[in-house]
Amino acid sequence: MNRDPQDSPVVLLTGASRGIGAEAARALAARGARLALLARSEEALKALGEELPTEVLLGALDVTDQEATARFVQETLKRFGRLDALVNNAAVLGPTGPTSETDLAGWRRAVEVNLLAPLALTRSALSALRESRGRVIQVSTGAAVQPLPHFGAYCATKAALTQLARVLALEEPSVTTLCFSPGVVDTGMQEQIRREAAPRMPEPWGRYFLDLPRQGGLQSPQSAGLTLAWLALEAPREWSGQMVDGDDEKIRRQAQAWA
Ligand SMILES: NC(=O)c1ccc[n+]([C@@H]2O[C@H](COP(=O)([O-])OP(=O)(O)OC[C@H]3O[C@@H](n4cnc5c(N)ncnc54)[C@H](OP(=O)(O)O)[C@@H]3O)[C@@H](O)[C@H]2O)c1
Repeated sequence: MNRDPQDSPVVLLTGASRGIGAEAARALAARGARLALLARSEEALKALGEELPTEVLLGALDVTDQEATARFVQETLKRFGRLDALVNNAAVLGPTGPTSETDLAGWRRAVEVNLLAPLALTRSALSALRESRGRVIQVSTGAAVQPLPHFGAYCATKAALTQLARVLALEEPSVTTLCFSPGVVDTGMQEQIRREAAPRMPEPWGRYFLDLPRQGGLQSPQSAGLTLAWLALEAPREWSGQMVDGDDEKIRRQAQAWA
C-alpha cells in the first residue's frame, strides 16, 4: 500500500489480545490501518504490537474502567490525530446456567463489560467519529436475537448492545453504526462454552456445542477477524443500524476479495 502513513485510517479495537480481535488487528494492519488496541493481557498485546507492520498504540486495561478508556481515546487522538473506526469487540460470556441460579454479581459484570463499556467508549469517541464520518462496529452475536438456555446474561447484554447500535444509527447520521454477528468461531470463548456451559445445557443445545469441533462447525478466527476488519474500514453508510451476519457467504466473499 503506497499511501502516506499519515493518511492511513485509524481504528480503536477492544479485545485485541486473542481470538477474533487479534485476527481483526492483523487484517487491519495488513491493509495499512494504524491501530489503538485494548485488552487486559499486556504480554499478549505487546507480542501482537511487535508483529504488526503499522503504528500501534497499546492500552493494557480493563474496558470497564471508564476513566482509563476515555483517557485512551484521548491518547489515540493525540498520537494519530484522527479516529476512523471504533470496534467494540471485547466481551465475556458471563455466568452460564439456569437463570434461576446464576449469580447477580456475574450479571452485573456482564452488563459492565458487554454493554456499559461499549457505550462509554462509543460516547468518548463520538465527536472524533462525527468529524471523520467514521464507523462504530459493535460485535454482537446470533444469541442477541436467538434465545439460548443457560446463556441469559450473554443473550440479554448482547441484545441490549444490538438495540443500542440501532438507536445510535438513528441519532448519529454522520457515523455508520452497525452490529457484526461473527457466527460460531473457534476461539477461547467457544472452548469456555464447551467446558463450562454445554455439559449442563438441556438437549439439543449441549450436544450441539460439544459436537461443533468434530462436525467442522467452527469458523476460523482469521475469517471472522477479516470480515470484522473489512466492516471497520469499508462498511457502506446504508448499512447503518443493521446486523451483519458473518456466516453470510456473500459477506465473507466480499471481505475475502478486499483482503
Ligand atoms: N467465538 C464465537 O463463537 C463468537 C460468536 C458470536 C460472537 N462472538 C463475539 O465476538 C467477540 C470476540 O469473541 P472471541 O470469541 O474472540 O472471544 P475471546 O477469545 O474470549 O476473546 C475475548 C477478548 O475480549 C477481551 N476482554 C474480555 N474482557 C475484557 C475486559 N474486561 N477488558 C478488556 N478486554 C477484555 C479479552 O482480552 P483480555 O482477557 O486480555 O482482557 C480478549 O481479547 C465477542 O464480542 C464475542 O461475544 C464470538
